[in-house]
This record gives sequence, C-alpha cells and structure tokens, in this order.
Amino acid sequence: MWGGRFAEGPSAIMREINASIPFDKALWRQDIMASKAHAAMLAAQGIVTGADAQAITEGLDRIAGEYEADGVPEDWDLEDIHMTTESRLADLIGAAAGRLHTARSRNDQVATDFRLWVREALDEADRGLSALQRALVIRAGEHEASIMPGFTHLQTAQPITLGHHLMAYYEMIRRDRSRFADARARMDECPLGSAALAGTGFPIDRDATAQALGFARPTANSLDAVSDRDFALDYLAAAGQCALHLSRLAEEFIIWASQPFGFVRLPDALSTGSSIMPQKKNPDAAELVRGHAGRIVGCNMALMMTMKGLPLAYSKDMQDDKPPVFEASGLLALSIAAMEGMVAGSTFRTDRMRQAAELGYATATDLADWLVREADIPFREAHHITGAAVKRAEADGVALDQLPLDVLRKIDKRIDARVYDALSVDASVASRASYGGTAPEQVRRRVAEARRVLGMDE
Ligand code: ARG
Repeated sequence: MWGGRFAEGPSAIMREINASIPFDKALWRQDIMASKAHAAMLAAQGIVTGADAQAITEGLDRIAGEYEADGVPEDWDLEDIHMTTESRLADLIGAAAGRLHTARSRNDQVATDFRLWVREALDEADRGLSALQRALVIRAGEHEASIMPGFTHLQTAQPITLGHHLMAYYEMIRRDRSRFADARARMDECPLGSAALAGTGFPIDRDATAQALGFARPTANSLDAVSDRDFALDYLAAAGQCALHLSRLAEEFIIWASQPFGFVRLPDALSTGSSIMPQKKNPDAAELVRGHAGRIVGCNMALMMTMKGLPLAYSKDMQDDKPPVFEASGLLALSIAAMEGMVAGSTFRTDRMRQAAELGYATATDLADWLVREADIPFREAHHITGAAVKRAEADGVALDQLPLDVLRKIDKRIDARVYDALSVDASVASRASYGGTAPEQVRRRVAEARRVLGMDE
C-alpha cells in the first residue's frame, strides 16, 4: 500500500542520517597518514606484498594531492572519509586497494584518526595560550606599579596594581596549559590494530604503527580502544575551563571599556561601531568570546551525553563525537586570538584607574590596619572607627587622605599625622608585599619569573 513511497523514502533518509562525510572529511590528512603507517606495517610483516604496499602508498599520496587541490568530494553513499578514500584508491590502483583494510576496521581507524586530530588541536591550543601569556606578561611589566581599584562584589575593595590583575590571568592560563598537557600525555596511545573490537588474527606489529604515528605505545585493550573517547572529552573539558577564563577576561574588558569606568580603550581592530549611534564603540569581540564560552562548554556536555550509557564496544552514536570537538576547537582558537589581540592592543587609562581607586575609599583597610599597628586598637574597634571616617569623607565628598587631621582626631584622638603615610593608594599597594601580593616589587618578581618560564629573554 505504501510501498511506492517507502521503497525510496527510508533509504534516502538512511543515507542522510548515516553520512558523516560532510564533517569527517576534516580528518582526511590523519586518515591518509594512518593508512600509510598501516600499509607499511602490513608489508613489513609479510601480510601484503611490498609491491601492493607501494601501490597503496603511492595511491594514497595521489589522493592527498587531489584533496589538497580540490577538497574532499562529498558522496553520501560512501558514508565517511574512510570509505571515500578507499573507494578513490580502488579507482586509482584497482584490486590491491582492497588489501589495505586487512587486519583493520573502521572502528580502530576512526579512533586513530580522531586521536591524531585531537592531538593537533591540543598543540594548537597550547601555542595560542603561550602567545596570550606573553601578551599578558608584557602588559603586566609595563603596569607593575599602575594603581587601580581592586574589587570584590564589583565594589571597590583595596587598591591593587594593574600588573597584578593581568598576572592573575597569566596564572589561570598556566593552569589551562597544564590541563592540555595532561590530556596530551594521557591520550598518547595508538588504537590502530584493535580492529573491529577484538583484535586480529593477522601477525600485525602494533608497536610499529604506534611509533610511526608518534604515539608512545599501543592501547592495551582492543574493546576499550575502539569505544574510548576520553581523549576527546579531556580536550573538551580543558577547552571548556579555558573558555571560562577567557570569558572572565573578556568580561573585565567589557566593564573597563564602559563609559562610567573608562579604564581601557579597546583596539579599533577588535571593536565595532553602531549603525545608528555615532558615538558608540562596542566591545563585540569581547562579548563574543564571552558568548563562545557557553557554546564550548555546550560541546563538552554534548559529547558527554553522547557517550553516556553506551555499551562496549563501538556504536554508531559515536559518529557524533566529531562535530562538537571540531566546533569547540574553532571557537577556542578564535577566542584565544581575540583575547591576545585585546590584551596586546588596548590602551589602559591609568589616570582613570588611579582616580577610581582614590575616590573609592580603597585605603580604608589601611587606616584600620594603621590603628591596630600604631595605636594598638583591636581590629574590630579599628574597623568601626574607620567606618566613621569613611562616612565623614563621603559626606564631605573627599578622599580619605584629604580629611584634615583635626577631623580625623575628632573621630578618634589616637590618630596622628603619621597616618597620612598609610592612606595614599601608593603606600597601600607598596605595603602589600607578602608573597603573591600586589606590591609592585612582588609583581616585578612574578613578571620576571614568567618571562623566564616563557623564554622571553633569550
Ligand atoms: N563514520 C564512522 C564514525 O565516525 C566510522 C566508523 C564506522 N564503524 C562502523 N562500525 N559502522 O564513527
């Protein structure tokens, strides 16, 4: 009854839902590299003849040239990059092409290709983050003594140095790089030769293919090897956390660039104008970095959900592993580059920053500390006295160090003229010289260490 429509319908849908070539063609280089390593191993082990292996290798090289020049053809009937390349190889060299798949399955093939791809993504992220760190360290060095307000709850808390603030992001990126490095060390095993799920009866040499593809060793369990996507999840988790840091840095720039703050002038190259309001210079790049972080974390969630509850070994669900990784990697690379440009190219308005620190009663803690130190007043009482001084300064519309001595002494007679040494923002930051503190002297040391670690003085 419905046969006329159904005979074609399901197969068309099947073809479309099954095809991964639209996205997994991005793996073509890895696929050809892994196939060449496999062919060489098969020949060395006497599983295929040297002549066949040579024909296969030459054919694969020719296909690489074609893909490079014209792109990878997208034929849904051929499903994926593995079948696309194998079918082209058969066109080029005939029957010998059929020997390449000896002792191999698409399951260990795709696991190997994808690992190789993720390994490069890890390296790319590390390179980008190293460049971002350099930009942070250079700007921190310029501003090791530039005063700005430090915030908690986005309320002025204590004066800090801009160099100290920028170096906080250096530390975050340092941890991101170590997460990517961990992921890389953990994924350093080659699945090739695990075959469909159970290994193979052919006398293959898995150490040889692992070594040829730059892995430390072959994977130790064939079932795990074809069903494991931890390496992709490790990458996405590290990418997600890195994206959160980039998003927080982006948010700082967005706030700092707003008119009421006016702490920074963003580079024109990373801003946009408004089609209706001529005065506007919008921090679109920073906002998109903030937005992309959500998408990158979403990619991590997507793959975790794909993998949840899959029995061993391979299931077709796992074909969906690639789009989130490809998407996250593109977004992350762009976000890192945008933040590097923003850090390197922004003009910091240190006059505005200092003014905000001076007007925000940022040295109130210093007054309280002075009362404890010099007048032996318990901190809680000193806190109370200082509160009264801030209230008075606020009422008079002046900074704390602009309150006349007689006014301060009316609040508490134990205060004397030496207090003014503690009330300036410069004295405040200079005093916070504990290890890791904001004092310029400390920032200078951290910057020098970072420059050494990054090899910037060589
Ligand atoms: N295109 C597939 C993927 O990306 C390749 C593996 C296919 N394996 C299979 N048993 N159908 O996952």
